[in-house]
This record gives sequence, C-alpha cells and structure tokens, in this order.
Amino acid sequence: MGGDAQKKRIAIIGVSTFLLVAMVVAVTISVSLNKGANEAKEESNDSHVASSMKAVKTLCAPTNYKEECEESLSSANSGNTTDPRELIQIVFNVTIKKIGEGLEKTHMMDEVEKDPRTKEALDTCKQLMNLSIAEFTRSLDKFKRFDLSNFNALLTSLRVWLSGAVTYQETCLDAFENTTTDASQKMQGFLQSAMRMSSNGLAIITELSNTLSEMNTGKPAGRRLLINKAEDLPVLGHETDDFDLPDWVDDRVGVRRLLRMTGRKRMAHVVVAKDGTGNFTTINEALLHVPSKNLKPFFIYVKEGVYDEFVEVSRNMTHVVMIGDGGKKSRITGSKNFVDGVGTFRTASAAVLGDFFVAIGMGFENSAGAAKHQAVALRVQADRSIFYRCQMDGYQDTLYAHTMRQFYRDCVISGTIDFVFGDAVAVLQNCTFMVRKPLENQQCIVTAQGRKELNQPSGLIIHGGSIVSDPSYYPVRFDNKAYLARPWKNFSRTIFMDSYIDDLITPDGYMPWQTSNGSTGTNTCFYSEFNNYGPGSDITKRVKWEGVKTLSPQGISNFLPSMFFHGDDWIRVTRVPYNPGQPSLPTTTPSISLSPSISPSISPSTTPSISLSPATTPSIPLSPATAPSIPLSPATTPSIPLSPATAPSIPLSPATTPSIPLSPATTPSLSPFPSTSISPSTSN
Ligand SMILES: *[C@@H]1O[C@H](CO)[C@@H](O)[C@H](O)[C@H]1NC(C)=O
Ligand SMILES: *[C@@H]1O[C@H](CO)[C@@H](O)[C@H](O)[C@H]1NC(C)=O
Ligand SMILES: *[C@@H]1O[C@H](CO)[C@@H](O)[C@H](O)[C@H]1NC(C)=O
Ligand SMILES: *[C@@H]1O[C@H](CO)[C@@H](O)[C@H](O)[C@H]1NC(C)=O
Ligand SMILES: *[C@@H]1O[C@H](CO)[C@@H](O)[C@H](O)[C@H]1NC(C)=O
Ligand SMILES: *[C@@H]1O[C@H](CO)[C@@H](O)[C@H](O)[C@H]1NC(C)=O
Ligand SMILES: *[C@@H]1O[C@H](CO)[C@@H](O)[C@H](O)[C@H]1NC(C)=O
Ligand SMILES: *[C@@H]1O[C@H](CO)[C@@H](O)[C@H](O)[C@H]1NC(C)=O
Ligand SMILES: *[C@@H]1O[C@H](CO)[C@@H](O)[C@H](O)[C@H]1NC(C)=O
Ligand SMILES: *[C@@H]1O[C@H](CO)[C@@H](O)[C@H](O)[C@H]1NC(C)=O
Repeated sequence: MGGDAQKKRIAIIGVSTFLLVAMVVAVTISVSLNKGANEAKEESNDSHVASSMKAVKTLCAPTNYKEECEESLSSANSGNTTDPRELIQIVFNVTIKKIGEGLEKTHMMDEVEKDPRTKEALDTCKQLMNLSIAEFTRSLDKFKRFDLSNFNALLTSLRVWLSGAVTYQETCLDAFENTTTDASQKMQGFLQSAMRMSSNGLAIITELSNTLSEMNTGKPAGRRLLINKAEDLPVLGHETDDFDLPDWVDDRVGVRRLLRMTGRKRMAHVVVAKDGTGNFTTINEALLHVPSKNLKPFFIYVKEGVYDEFVEVSRNMTHVVMIGDGGKKSRITGSKNFVDGVGTFRTASAAVLGDFFVAIGMGFENSAGAAKHQAVALRVQADRSIFYRCQMDGYQDTLYAHTMRQFYRDCVISGTIDFVFGDAVAVLQNCTFMVRKPLENQQCIVTAQGRKELNQPSGLIIHGGSIVSDPSYYPVRFDNKAYLARPWKNFSRTIFMDSYIDDLITPDGYMPWQTSNGSTGTNTCFYSEFNNYGPGSDITKRVKWEGVKTLSPQGISNFLPSMFFHGDDWIRVTRVPYNPGQPSLPTTTPSISLSPSISPSISPSTTPSISLSPATTPSIPLSPATAPSIPLSPATTPSIPLSPATAPSIPLSPATTPSIPLSPATTPSLSPFPSTSISPSTSN
C-alpha cells in the first residue's frame, strides 16, 4: 500500500508527538493533516481508509480501553478523517452520546419502587450524569475554538474537567451504597460503556498534555507574558473565555477591602441578614440575584447569623463572592445525614458549583453529630474556587472537595472520619485540621482522597497548616487513634508538607481502606510527607506500603501549589494571601514557556530573597507572592513558615485558633490546647 506520502505519514504516526505536531502545524502554519487528508483523497480510497484507521489507533494508544476506543471512533468517523482535532471532538461527542444512552436505560429500573434509598440514589445519579455531560460539553466547546496562545491552559482545564466527569460517574455508582436492591450492578452495566469512553477521553487529553510538556522542556517559548504581578492581568482578562477572570484586577486592593466592615458594606451587591437589616433574610434569595452569565465579582455580604437552609450556588452562578463576618459568626448549617436515609452526596449543608466562587469569613456546618455517620457540611464542585478564613465543622465527611480546582487558605476544618475527602485538585494552605471526638469504637482519619484513575490530575495538598486535637478529643486521642489518610480509591493522592503534626497522629500514619475483599489501594495510592514538624511528624514508623513515598526536594516541587495547579492567576487576581511555593530563582525573564510546569525559569515570587530554614527546605522558600506591597521583615520572623500576607489585625473570626503553634522553632513544646481558649465550634 501507498507511496512515499503514505510512508511518511505512518512514520509520523509512529511517534508519540503525532497529535501535537498535527495541532501545532495546523494552527501555526495552517498546513494541517487536512492537507494530508486531501492528498489521501487523491490516492486510492483504500489507503485513505487505512490511514484514518491508523490515526484512530494512534489516538487510542494511551487509553485504558483501547478496543472500546477504536471501535466507537471508527464507527463514528464517517468522514474517515485523519485530523486528530476532529477525532478528539468525535471522542467527546461519542462519550456524551453514551452517557445519554446510559441515562435512558435507567427507565428500566423498577427497583426504585421497592426501596426509597435506591430511588434517591438514582436521582443523585441522574444529576451527576448531567454534570458529567456538562463537563464533556464544555470541553468539546472549548476544544473546538482553541488556539495556540492558550493551548497549554486549555489542556490543563480540559484535564480538570474531564477528570471531574470521570469522578461524577464514580460518585453515581457510590450513591448506591447500602441500597438493598441490585440497582448498583444494573447501573454499572448501563454506564460501563460511557465510563470507559470517559476514561479514554481523559487519557487522550493527558497524553497530549504530557507530550506538549516534553516538547517544551527547556525551551522558553515566550508566547505569553508571565503574570508576574496582578497588575498585568487585564491583558489576559477578557481575551479568551478560558481566562474569564473577574474584574478584581481593577481593584488593586482585591479582597483586602472586604476584610474591613465598611468595605463589606459598601461593596456588597446584596446584603443578607438574619435579623432583617439587609435585603434578604436567606442566602438563597440573594443568590437568585446573581446576573446570568456573570463575569464580575458579585458580592454577597452575609451578616452574622446562623442560616439554616440548604445553600446551593448552582453551576450558572459564577463569580459569586460570599463574605461573612467570620467563620464562627456567619454560618450556614444543616443536619442531613446518612443514617437518616440521605446519600452522602446530598447531605451537604451547602453545595458550590458555580466557577470562580470565593468565600471569605464564612462558616459551614453539619450538626448531625458522630452517631449519624456521613454528614457533609460543604461540598465543592466549582472550578477555580477559593475559601479564605472559612470554617467547616462536622464529624464524618465534613468537607467534600469533590471535583475541579480549589484553594483553601487559613481555614479551620473539624471532623472525625475522612473529614476532608473527594477528588478535587485542591490545595489547603495554612489550614487547621481539628480532630474531634468520634464514637467509642471509631478511629479518626483526616483525609480520604478519592482519585480513581492514574490520569486524573487530582489530589490534596496540605501545605503549611496544622493537624491538632479538638479539646473533646484530646483526652481520648490515644484510644481512638488518628491517621493522616486512607485510600478511598485506588490512586488516592495526598501530600503533607511544611505542616505541624501533633501527637494525635498515630506512628503508622495511614490506615488501609477495608472492603469485603480486604484492603485496597495500599500499593497504588500516593502519600508523601515532606518537611513537617511536631510530635506526630516522625515518619520512621509509618506503614511500609508501596504507596507511601519519600520524595526528594525535586520530587516534592511538583506538588507546590503553583506547579500543582499549572497556573494560578485565578488566585492571584483576588489578592487572597497565597504562597505559590515556587523555588525562588531571581526573575529576570518574564516569559513563559508553553509548559509552566516544567520550565525552570519561572518564578512568580516577587520576594525571592526570603528563604526559611534553608537547611531543611532548600527549595521551598514560602514567600509572600501575592502581597508585594506589604513590607515583610523576614529577619524578625524567621520561623513562620507562611507569610502574613494580609493585615493580620483585621478582626475576622477573632479567636478561632489562637494557640496553635505555627512556628515550631520558637515554641517547640507549646501544647496547642493550654486548657483555655478553644471551644467546640458547634457552640457558636
Ligand atoms: C473512491 O470512492 C468513490 C465513491 O465512494 C469513487 O467515486 C471513486 O472513484 C473512488 N476512487 C478510487 C481511486 O477508487
Ligand atoms: C469511509 O470509509 C468507508 C469504508 O470503511 C466507506 O464506506 C465510506 O464511504 C468512507 N467515507 C468517506 C466520506 O470517504
Ligand atoms: C458533535 O456533535 C454535534 C452535535 O451533536 C455536531 O454538530 C458536531 O458536528 C459533532 N462533531 C463531530 C466532530 O463529530
Ligand atoms: C438532566 O438534564 C436533562 C436535560 O437537560 C433534564 O431534563 C433533567 O431534568 C436533568 N436531570 C437532573 C436530575 O438534573
Ligand atoms: C439592597 O438594599 C439596598 C439598601 O436598602 C438597596 O439600595 C439595594 O437596591 C437593594 N438591592 C436589592 C437587589 O434589592
Ligand atoms: C440557574 O439555573 C437555575 C436552575 O438550575 C435557574 O432557576 C436560575 O434561574 C438560573 N440562574 C441564572 C442566573 O441563569
Ligand atoms: C450499610 O451497610 C453496611 C454493610 O452492609 C452495614 O454494616 C451498615 O450498618 C449500613 N449502614 C447504614 C447506615 O445502613
Ligand atoms: C482498584 O481497586 C479494585 C478494588 O477496589 C480492584 O478490584 C482493582 O483491580 C483495582 N484497580 C487497579 C488498577 O489497581
Ligand atoms: C471482590 O472480588 C470479587 C472477585 O475478585 C469481585 O467480583 C467483587 O466485586 C469484589 N468486591 C468488592 C466489594 O470489591
Ligand atoms: C495562618 O492561619 C492563622 C489562622 O488560622 C492566621 O492567624 C495566621 O496569620 C496565618 N499565618 C500566616 C503566616 O498567614
């Protein structure tokens, strides 16, 4: 078969850069594989079909379900195209169709009449499938209109969104936990094809992204300016809708103005007040006033009070900024729980799905108590969402960091079992994890990350916080052991770094996930601790699982916030204190390569000279990148691992965790609970 052109094409197809070359060529010089396709048309029909099949095979090579991939692509590829861009669109299209077909089949489930839990699970499942479709739809939409200037950012977003779609499908099956019918098996059957194609879609995009990174190694491409200062951001702000960052940029102060009472009052679009002194008495009423297709921060000031309502920031409510009077004062509460018949997903007191959500000084609570098992206080599925100085209180499953990119800073999170869980791409920076007293025969586990597939970019990064006992737990902490993590799904991934770990954490550190078939995930999970301190931080007695890793400073750098997010301008624009954790090389080149994750020349830090305890943390300077204007005096505060980026005197939630030793060097022996201050947060 075929002449020279054909051979050449096969040669190109042979290398893993096939896709990328096609993309780059297609866009930059407008010589694409379409040309190849045209050539092919001039050849025999047979060879054209053969080359299109070759393209399909190449595209499907990195997937977990190759047969499924090739089969469905071949049958959907009626035009016999060899253009990878079209083929990828077809993959998305096919997947959307298959999810829809899976949903259709649920009509055949008559079990729902027999068992209320099954009925609820099915409803949840349908909702999640809709979300899954929505992620594929927006991925398809963005992919159609990509151009090279945002290609890297696009692939980063696509990976996050498709990962979310995969997670939603898994959550759908999880919803059938404890149902008494065989609905779970049936559902699994209905969705198998859709789930496999979703996994394939994620694998293809991941391969593309990795290829791009490899090609970019060491090459500063300089296509786009590095966002070194927030002032530079307007350039990015409105040019492409993947970067539809809000107008924080116009306001050089960012969130700092909101931290003052007068600022809160003046800037609020609507005020919610329980006592009737605002526009509304419930938060949901206020949310109805978020403009459609909103692209600007929409400020909702929630005055002090307890709001007993299921708050949902739905998918179409974007750029909502919810500002309270403090995590102990402005609180959203609820008490739905698993034992009383509600599936975990639906137990949340608040659910946030609208992208670019920001919460400041808000409290979220589920008050069901330990005896009611799973009871979520806050579920987050909003891409590029931020929680600053917030409080999440519950027992089992307090914070459900479900999907998408999430950043938590200076938050306090309390709970017992798996109290931070989910499958988001999440960084929790300078947060306090407070273990509470569980039921008599229970252990406590701080995190249960739920990464299901190796290709998912998700994980939990605990960066510079503290893990401590609640006063109620303190006396029983050696009877009811506490662990850092357990692998909820096979590829569970959590990193603990630069954090204070108190004596409650048992030397083993990690607990296996038990199923009826024994424990799972111990070999495939990815847990690592780096540069932590405190009596519970000794790693010498940790379990010897294959999945518990020791990373070099080099290895850990992939998990520093800016590296892990692959782009953090969405945090920087808000001026929320943020430590990107970049190695602080002197920045002379404000250029970005197409692949920020591997380029050694990128250092957004504006204060490269502050380096803390260089002996132990040579590569993690922890410098205050977002607040360049505030004079920092590193000489006087050498041992504080995180920068006091905003005015520390602002009275938001005045005394949440006053006694927790953030700086071990100066106060090595200080107990975090010297009897006095901390009262259980439910008493608020
Ligand atoms: C290719 O197929 C079309 C119809 O499908 C036919 O008209 C054409 O002659 C074929 N070309 C060759 C080179 O066989
Ligand atoms: C694509 O290939 C199939 C054979 O596999 C052929 O029947 C069909 O006509 C081709 N379509 C186009 C548009 O060339
Ligand atoms: C994907 O599906 C949409 C509508 O369902 C259609 O308009 C579009 O052409 C399809 N794209 C591809 C590449 O098949
Ligand atoms: C899912 O989406 C379809 C169509 O958009 C809609 O009719 C249906 O009500 C949605 N289901 C749920 C549970 O949201
Ligand atoms: C909220 O109340 C303020 C002051 O009473 C008023 O100016 C504003 O128009 C109200 N906003 C809404 C959305 O009702
Ligand atoms: C968002 O969607 C909900 C239904 O899910 C609808 O009631 C609401 O009006 C929509 N809001 C906007 C701003 O489009
Ligand atoms: C769920 O099922 C497991 C095992 O079947 C059982 O031990 C547990 O008590 C059940 N939980 C609830 C809340 O029904
Ligand atoms: C994932 O875990 C399940 C059990 O929960 C196991 O059957 C399966 O083989 C695991 N998959 C991988 C890839 O390790
Ligand atoms: C246990 O293993 C069997 C066979 O390996 C499998 O069919 C079953 O689904 C597994 N059960 C669980 C809960 O993982
Ligand atoms: C860390 O968080 C606590 C509150 O939880 C806050 O008081 C402290 O200022 C923060 N530290 C830094 C360095 O930002």
